[in-house]
Amino acid sequence: MSSLADQFHSAALDEHLASTFEARGLRAARVGDDDREGTRRWQDAVARGFLDGEPTEVQYTESFAHNGYRRKVGVYDDGGVQADVPVATFASWGTELTLPGGSAIPMCAVSAVTVAPTHRRRGILSTLMRGELRTAVSLGFPIAGLTVSESGIYGRFGFAPAVTATSWEISTRRTGWIGPVAPGRIDYVTREQGRDAATALYKRVRLDTPGEISMPGGHWERTFGTRPDVDKADKLRVVQYRSPSGEVEGVAIYSISEDDEDWAASTATVSRVVAGTDAAYAGLWRFLLSLDLVGTVRASELSVDEPLWWMIDNKRAARITSRDHHYLRVLDVPATLAARNYDIEDVIALEVTDALGIADGTFVLSAGETPGVDVVDEAPLGVLLVRLGVAELSAILLGGISPVTLARAGRIETDDPHRVARVFAATTTPRLSFWY
Ligand SMILES: CC(C)(COP(=O)(O)OP(=O)(O)OC[C@H]1O[C@@H](n2cnc3c(N)ncnc32)[C@H](O)[C@@H]1OP(=O)(O)O)[C@@H](O)C(=O)NCCC(=O)NCCS
Repeated sequence: MSSLADQFHSAALDEHLASTFEARGLRAARVGDDDREGTRRWQDAVARGFLDGEPTEVQYTESFAHNGYRRKVGVYDDGGVQADVPVATFASWGTELTLPGGSAIPMCAVSAVTVAPTHRRRGILSTLMRGELRTAVSLGFPIAGLTVSESGIYGRFGFAPAVTATSWEISTRRTGWIGPVAPGRIDYVTREQGRDAATALYKRVRLDTPGEISMPGGHWERTFGTRPDVDKADKLRVVQYRSPSGEVEGVAIYSISEDDEDWAASTATVSRVVAGTDAAYAGLWRFLLSLDLVGTVRASELSVDEPLWWMIDNKRAARITSRDHHYLRVLDVPATLAARNYDIEDVIALEVTDALGIADGTFVLSAGETPGVDVVDEAPLGVLLVRLGVAELSAILLGGISPVTLARAGRIETDDPHRVARVFAATTTPRLSFWY
């Protein structure tokens, strides 16, 4: 963990957060990393909040072993019958977010947000979110991010979906392969070998794609079923792509579900393709689309601009649905904007409003090879001005959402949205390849 992530992990709770809960007869506390019993009760609350069953012994143990990187906050109601089970949970940790141009900035990732149905709609989430974001800001995180189960919740806190994800269902019999035929070879490997290869490859490829983050602990083990708490791990099949010179350049993991009515119409669900080269990408997808006894291939958390689209000859064989996926929330405008890359030289002013009072202000962005951001009292005369909320700024940050679209939707105000769009454009479509 970086020192910022370390400091955040063990930082005291925001005083205003603690006193607000106290005034309501509730108690907020961090769950200690060594507190096995407290962690179990916290996990009980998370499972309940997400409508899961009670965790099993194996799930308790694995979660304790792998989730130590999370800063876990619980809100307790000492008047309740099960007072040791929090009525609200909130987890966060320091990670890194890739920006256009391949730079990465520290990000405060948020997860496991639940409030018990007995305590909902009393402002508990609002108090937690504001307090934890204040702590993240005080330590210097320039941005926060999350993935959501419901999309209507986080806009009010300044988050916006900067990355859209697509889910694909491809009828493999209806389409042929028109993509490149990769020169390397495909081999089955063990789940452990696949996990190790994916871990190494992703470290590199995450920096190629805006919107990806460094993986939270234990993630690859869960993806590859090498943790004992993974359901149906025995169904997972792993293949790797090796270049002619012997380099492992890609890994794919999938599982098959049979169709009892027609054994030649099974479905392959691809849980992940990690490709370090275009050849590996083509080689692995070609393999997956040509599996015998399989009529349908499903995959999700793909980008809205997948090369795969151009590798199949019948585009209507693919049913593609898109969904809001990676929500971002700028906390520090100068630090965030100065960290990304801009392909054109231009100067624009941004007047940012933020209902939480974190990121508002007026900023002059000098885009270009070495970008700079100045905080000013008012936009200088003669400089193109954009008026927008912090959620809209967060939406356009990665270049996946056009300011022209947001202007047409009435979400940003500017005399020249096309010029703003050219400033924020990125040459790689953002993607986040998993949930967290
Ligand atoms: C979502 C959840 C955490 C909200 O907690 P809460 O303490 O009831 O939220 P608050 O009382 O602080 O509500 C804050 C605002 O969000 C709104 N809101 C809360 N839950 C919402 C939802 N599911 N959809 C849309 N708006 C929601 C509230 O109406 C309120 O609006 P206001 O600011 O206009 O008054 C809680 O309902 C829950 O645990 N749901 C199940 C698990 C879940 O979906 N977690 C989110 C994971 S991404």
